[in-house]
Amino acid sequence: MSCIHQFKRSIVKQLAPLTNSQDQHLLSLLRVPKQQSDGQFFINIPKLLSTFGPDPKIDAAPEQWCQRACQQIAPTGSIQQVMAKGPNLHFYIKPTDMTKGVLQQVYEEKDRYGWADAQPVNQTVVLDYSSPNIAKPFHAGHLRSTILGNYIKRIHRAMGYTVKDINYLGDWGKQYGLLAVGFSKYGSEAHLERDPIHHLYEVYVKINKEAEADPEIHQRANAYFRQMERGNPEALAQWQRFRQLSIDSYASIYARLNISFHEYSGESQVDSYIPKVHAQLEAKGLLTHMDDGALAVDLSRFGLKPAIVQRADGTSLYLTRDLAAVLLRQDKYAFDKAIYVVGMEQQAYFRQVFACASLLTDRDPADFLHASFGRIQGMSTRQGTAVFLQDILDTAKDTILDYMATKDSLSADLLDPTSATSMDTIADQLGTSAILIQDMKAKRQKNYNFSWDRMTDTQGDTGVFLQYAHARACGIDRRVDIPVTLDGQHWDLLKERSAFELIQTISYFPDVVQQSFEALEPCTIVNYLFKLSHATSYASRHLRVLGSDPDVAKARMLLFWAARTTLHNGMSLLGMSPLDKM
Ligand code: ARG
Repeated sequence: MSCIHQFKRSIVKQLAPLTNSQDQHLLSLLRVPKQQSDGQFFINIPKLLSTFGPDPKIDAAPEQWCQRACQQIAPTGSIQQVMAKGPNLHFYIKPTDMTKGVLQQVYEEKDRYGWADAQPVNQTVVLDYSSPNIAKPFHAGHLRSTILGNYIKRIHRAMGYTVKDINYLGDWGKQYGLLAVGFSKYGSEAHLERDPIHHLYEVYVKINKEAEADPEIHQRANAYFRQMERGNPEALAQWQRFRQLSIDSYASIYARLNISFHEYSGESQVDSYIPKVHAQLEAKGLLTHMDDGALAVDLSRFGLKPAIVQRADGTSLYLTRDLAAVLLRQDKYAFDKAIYVVGMEQQAYFRQVFACASLLTDRDPADFLHASFGRIQGMSTRQGTAVFLQDILDTAKDTILDYMATKDSLSADLLDPTSATSMDTIADQLGTSAILIQDMKAKRQKNYNFSWDRMTDTQGDTGVFLQYAHARACGIDRRVDIPVTLDGQHWDLLKERSAFELIQTISYFPDVVQQSFEALEPCTIVNYLFKLSHATSYASRHLRVLGSDPDVAKARMLLFWAARTTLHNGMSLLGMSPLDKM
């Protein structure tokens, strides 16, 4: 059990007899105060009453009750002091107990500190994210889905879930007939091999333009797509090749973000399940005929518009395929939860999908979750406004390289001349970190304005700043030859304000991870990491390691190691690759 949890339990043990609440309730309401001078934990009594109802044991006004409770709670064990401040009761933990507890815990849990308590939950989550469309731009929405999806995957794995992550490509529909016609006119084999994503888009744009003026192109495209639907091997072989080359190319770009998928699937991969969707809806009496001959599922019991599952001409829709994908994923993965990381503009759509899916499968609608997000405004790359993932990452890298060339921004001890890591790799890592943090800094449902300039701010709240803080924290190891150890530590040597503040900040990381997980909000972790970095750099300015008394140096060494381990763990959860040096 985490030391923080133990402290909380000992507080609850004192508090419980004075209230009518269960231990679990009290535990859930113990919070970390903003100011260190307010102790390590506090509980707000009105909040307790509003959350769990009136409490006959809290008979007086909350302020008076807190005054009285203060007198009644005897400081024992690790609790040093209890204080009433308005309607809040504040608890102070003995500093040496806190120091020892926290540093021991980080030392023992290392790269699992933050979630080491999580037990395997024996549940499978299927996670649908990124999911771009072949021969179309990878727009800002796909970028957000990629970044948030990767975080959702990592935090679920950390919390003990099995995650099957699926890239559900937009790879089926009439437009692929058009693409084929376009390729026969404008395609180049060499260009396709070299850069399938840009080339297919180029071809697609050209043929679309031509088709606007020439209806015959559309007829040919429709005829081609019919061939594909009938399973004509030649038509399918070419489409299959476009698809596979696009996937290969995507996979190598995702690798720059440290992302790989359990499976590349897509709208084209669910055909065999479409008849099952129909059969099951039919059997349950859920299908209604619309006036124009289309088939729909009545969703009035959910307060939603009917969902069309088959067009009048007998063809399937985006929604039909998502329902087929649900059945397929049930068979393949027996999932407990399905999460879709898609922009807010598809909210009404996913309400319909989930309502239909729960009717279809007799599952609780809560088994399906739309992890939605707001828009990115104003993102264009050096290549133009039609955005592709590779161009976004390249533009980020170039921005960093330009910055490195013009500014003497990275102090000499961070740039390691003997390091095999090239400037290019570092710039790439910094660039992706910058994009990641810009994206995850605010609540996910908020829109934000994208800015390349803000990315390189080494002081502000940016990904570059976090990488810088991490590399600098690793720098101590290279300069100082003192082992990181628990042996022979004197815990009372870390008594300065800056040391204790840092220890306290490190201590609540597991709570932050838990909160972030519950709301699926990476900004909780991002904002915490900024705080941790500031507390670390403040402490490192005040607490010298080199040249201090050996026992003091040893204690500080452990403290800074714990801080950077925590920073490392948080960055990894967000999908960043922390740099040891720059
Ligand atoms: N390809 C879709 C788009 O670009 C996103 C797919 C989201 N996932 C899903 N199962 N519908 O809008």
